[in-house]
Amino acid sequence: MAKTFSTPLDSDKIRASLAAGIIGREIIIYNTTASTNDIAAEYARGGEKNNGLVIFSEYQTAGKGRRGNRWHSEAGQSILCSILLTDFSESAELLTLTAAVAVAETIGKYGKNEAKIKWPNDIVLGEKKVAGILLESIGANSYVLGIGINCHQKKRDFPEELRKIATSIDIESPGSCDRISLAKRLLTTVEQWLDIAKNDSEKVLNRWRQLSTLLGRRITVEFNSRQFRGNCTGIDPVRGLIPQLERGGV
Ligand code: BTN
Repeated sequence: MAKTFSTPLDSDKIRASLAAGIIGREIIIYNTTASTNDIAAEYARGGEKNNGLVIFSEYQTAGKGRRGNRWHSEAGQSILCSILLTDFSESAELLTLTAAVAVAETIGKYGKNEAKIKWPNDIVLGEKKVAGILLESIGANSYVLGIGINCHQKKRDFPEELRKIATSIDIESPGSCDRISLAKRLLTTVEQWLDIAKNDSEKVLNRWRQLSTLLGRRITVEFNSRQFRGNCTGIDPVRGLIPQLERGGV
């Protein structure tokens, strides 16, 4: 089956019109890497001067997902991006929520659905995952924020077991995804929300709550091999989802 190749990512075009901030003051684009997160982590050795460095790759041979999973994507179909942060002194939990808010807002509305956050940090369009976030701590106040956004995949491009749970922007809204514009919007939105996180963490939490698919929904939590059912009434950055249990209590 013929593959659709999109316009290649281009660092000059992505940087053009980015505000003079930290994120994306240097952008490196690879054709192929094992994992953009690993490359960004290597640059952390360069210290503060590499704060805000962004690595993109058109293809990853060993893309990393959460919980040791692989993150697979054919060449040129996704945004595969890692942002190096060397001075984030708030908690990793807040950074994860901040990244989820920024990625959901970046994607915004495609087709009939608005991007939402599914706990803890999957980004979904409708009920299906369109983007994932892998935050890796690499030292004191230093993190690599890895972001994968499915752009041009057709349903058949996903492995069989993912077809029911994964989607791409093109599936939701054919022909509407311009990866360069999306990459620009991503870096701008991450910068804005990182600034907010440093000064007003409550604002991040409130936005996270607004974008969350689970707040107000019935959830089942598995803990110590027991299941607890209840209504998700809140979210705490450290403790996680807060269910009002059917059997009483929180
Ligand atoms: C998840 O499992 O939901 C997280 C997926 C994160 C994938 C991105 S793609 C760019 C960056 N490099 C990696 O190896 N992983 C992250």
